[in-house]
Amino acid sequence: MKYTLTTGLMMSLIFSSLLIATGDAQTRYAKTPWDAEGPFYPVERRSDEDNDLLNVKGMSGSAKGDVLHLSGIVLDTNGTPQKDVVVEIWQTDRNGLYDHPRDWSEGQRDQFFQYWGKATTDDDGKYRFKTLLPGEYEPRPAHIHFKVWVGQKEVLTSQMYISKDPTKTLRVRKPLRLEVTKTDQGEYTGFFRIVY
Ligand SMILES: [Fe+2]
Repeated sequence: MKYTLTTGLMMSLIFSSLLIATGDAQTRYAKTPWDAEGPFYPVERRSDEDNDLLNVKGMSGSAKGDVLHLSGIVLDTNGTPQKDVVVEIWQTDRNGLYDHPRDWSEGQRDQFFQYWGKATTDDDGKYRFKTLLPGEYEPRPAHIHFKVWVGQKEVLTSQMYISKDPTKTLRVRKPLRLEVTKTDQGEYTGFFRIVY
C-alpha cells in the first residue's frame, strides 16, 4: 500500500483506538457500592479485636451457630491487590441480635460471640474471618456489615448479603452478594471481593 497522508491518518486512528481498548481493559473493576452503615456500628468495643469471632478472649466457650469461613480480597480499580488494608465486620449472632445498646430486640445475646472483628490484608490483598452465618431478621436478607480502612481513612462502608438457599434470589446488587457453600463438615465458606 502506498503510504499517503490518508493511510497514515488511518493507521494512527487504528493505533489510538487500540490504546483506548487496552486502557479500558486495565480499569474494568467497578468499585464496590456503598451501603448504609445501619444503627448498630459498635460503640463499645470488646477487648478482643481479632478475626476469629467465634472465640472471645478470656471466655471459655465458643459461639453457637453455623460456622462461616469468610475470606476475600481487596483490589483497587486496576485489579491490583491491596495489602495492609483493614477490613472490619459487625453482624448479628445466630438469633439475629446485635450486641449494641440500641438493639432492643428481645432475646439472649451469645456471650461467647464476638459480634465484631477486624482483619488486615496480607501481601496478596487477602483477608479472612471465622464467624457465624448471621441470623435473618425479616424482611432483610442476612447480612454482614463492613468497613474498609486505609490507615486512618475510611474508604468504604457497605454490607454483604447472604443467602444459603440457592433457590432464593436475593434482590440486592450483585457485587454485594456473598455466595456461601456448605462443606462436608457442615460449615460454610464464602468469598467476597472488595474494590475501592
Ligand atoms: Fe444490619
